[in-house]
Amino acid sequence: MSGATDMPPAANAADENPTAAREVLAFVWGYWRAVPLRFAGMLLGTTLGVVLEVQIPRLSADLVVVVEQLLRDAAAPADAWRTAGWLLGVFGAVFLVKQLYLRNWMYLASQVMQQLVADGFRRVQRFSQEWHTNHFAGSTQRKITRGMWAYDSLADTLVIDLGPALGLLVGFTIAMGLRDPALGLYFGIAVSVFLAASIAMSIHYVAPANVLSNDADTTVGGALADSITCNTVVKSFGSEEREDERFHMASQDWRLKSRRAWLRSMDAGAVQSVLLLCLLGGLLGIVLLRTEAATDRVEGAVYVIATYLVVHSYLRNIGWQVRNAQRAINELDDLVEIARTEPQVENVPAAPSFQPGPGAIDFDDVRFGYRNQPRPIFEKLCVHVRPGEKLALVGESGAGKSTFAKLVQRLYDIDAGRISIDGQDVSQVTQESLRTAISVVPQEPILFHRSLAENIAYARPGASRDEVIRAARQAHAHEFIDRLDHGYETLVGERGVKLSGGERQRVAIARAILADAPILVLDEATSSLDSLTEHLIQEALTTLMRGRTAIVIAHRLSTIRQADRILVFDDGHIIEEGSHDELVRRAGGRYRELVQMQAFVVDALEEPEVEPEAQDSRESA
Ligand SMILES: Nc1ncnc2c1ncn2[C@@H]1O[C@H](COP(=O)(O)OP(=O)(O)OP(=O)(O)O)[C@@H](O)[C@H]1O
Ligand SMILES: [Mg+2]
Repeated sequence: MSGATDMPPAANAADENPTAAREVLAFVWGYWRAVPLRFAGMLLGTTLGVVLEVQIPRLSADLVVVVEQLLRDAAAPADAWRTAGWLLGVFGAVFLVKQLYLRNWMYLASQVMQQLVADGFRRVQRFSQEWHTNHFAGSTQRKITRGMWAYDSLADTLVIDLGPALGLLVGFTIAMGLRDPALGLYFGIAVSVFLAASIAMSIHYVAPANVLSNDADTTVGGALADSITCNTVVKSFGSEEREDERFHMASQDWRLKSRRAWLRSMDAGAVQSVLLLCLLGGLLGIVLLRTEAATDRVEGAVYVIATYLVVHSYLRNIGWQVRNAQRAINELDDLVEIARTEPQVENVPAAPSFQPGPGAIDFDDVRFGYRNQPRPIFEKLCVHVRPGEKLALVGESGAGKSTFAKLVQRLYDIDAGRISIDGQDVSQVTQESLRTAISVVPQEPILFHRSLAENIAYARPGASRDEVIRAARQAHAHEFIDRLDHGYETLVGERGVKLSGGERQRVAIARAILADAPILVLDEATSSLDSLTEHLIQEALTTLMRGRTAIVIAHRLSTIRQADRILVFDDGHIIEEGSHDELVRRAGGRYRELVQMQAFVVDALEEPEVEPEAQDSRESA
């Protein structure tokens, strides 16, 4: 996977190689190739446009000569009308051809841009949880949309501006060469020098500054998103000013880097103006020096000036366009990076779907560590969950309980060993089919900013309103939903912020009830509920767990008394295992200690029947 992350913000600013322009162009070409007819039409149109435009200076010069002859009575008025007609005709034809191919281009561009965002979105959605925890949502979203507009700008520059411009320059070099080899030679050389200088300045002088300025821009976006997402925390600590200062550092960096990029752009523009002046001066000089007759001089001068005027706008902009293309390439970089980043947790080729069975879960010698942690959290972890078993995980914060649950869902790939469910290795079946077989009520439920009904039905999109309400009733969510003005149609705010923690949890439980999956994972599913509601929901959860394999993580031990088996985790190791009754009797046991600290079972401890041989860990480590 890509090692690049958005955090810390400064890390990827300077030292990361931007994707080679070649790669970006190949990426864009891939999209054009997918619409061959429209793209071919575009090329044909631009070529025709160039051929027509090359005629304009010659016709302009002809017209001036005919008018001059008319003054001397050396030509008939009809000749002047005919030449003027040709000139106008060519202008008209250029206009028509451009109209046609630009309209065609709009179809092509909108189609490709839609495909581009869709592809970016499709990929990012499938990146692992690890990738997502390492990349700010705000910057990822910006990278995708900015990539889309960068494509637009790059494609326009290449196909509408640079392509025809280069075509015209070649066309004019040939046309001038045919008139006077010296003129053609000078034009060819001068234009080449101009192009080389423009492109070199663009790539070596302007672009590096642009890269830094773009990175600073991404950092500003990330900083904004981070603080705004955590606004609740900011408020609760009254730390708005601290955040302002933090943001000021990011925006200050952006200001300096952007200003430098813009100034360099101005410098490059100034050098180009001087070179253009030399081009025109040289052309006029050659024409005047190498022609004798007054008519030839007039004709030549008009021809050169008309050519210059046609070419000037293209040339003048070529440097800008090369820079624009370069900037667009830099901006597309992130999208190309996304496109070539392989999903970190991947389905094996032709992976079959997971076939839900009775729900046996087996961890065999599992080793797993988060990438940014110095050592693995699990080493040779062995856990076997029987079909239909209610397994509770307890232990201190950070002991690895949620990680265990995440591995069951294959949110991360393990480093060694094997995890299987109903005899099927989780790494060998499709992730989607595996995860639909597991209902999860996560530690911090996140809801979509969609209606409550949609949020609950997310587990089963085809669910009827009655089914949604039934699930909500079981989860004791119906009571509060019913009291809302818009009931099930209420929108819950970004990530569900408009609901209380307990309400959000009840919605998540309703969602899990509706999912009706054979395996259930409850990660602190009731931690935000008051005791009464928890008690009510406990019944619903007990019903829900019936006939299913369930992994229940809880700090409040009251919620796991009924578990068939309890595993006590400590720093990634299982240090105790047994039923509630067994474990509370174990003298000096961790579970007993945990229970003692929670007052509710004081009475259970009053008759300390101690089992002498405490049998510990199931770990083979
Ligand atoms: N995405 C992550 N990247 C790196 N380290 C992580 C990540 N998620 C968890 N950890 C680390 O792994 C360890 C186990 O975390 P885990 O979330 O499994 O703990 P937990 O037992 O569920 O704790 P809690 O009771 O607080 O929920 C912790 O040290 C934690 O800091
Ligand atoms: Mg946890």
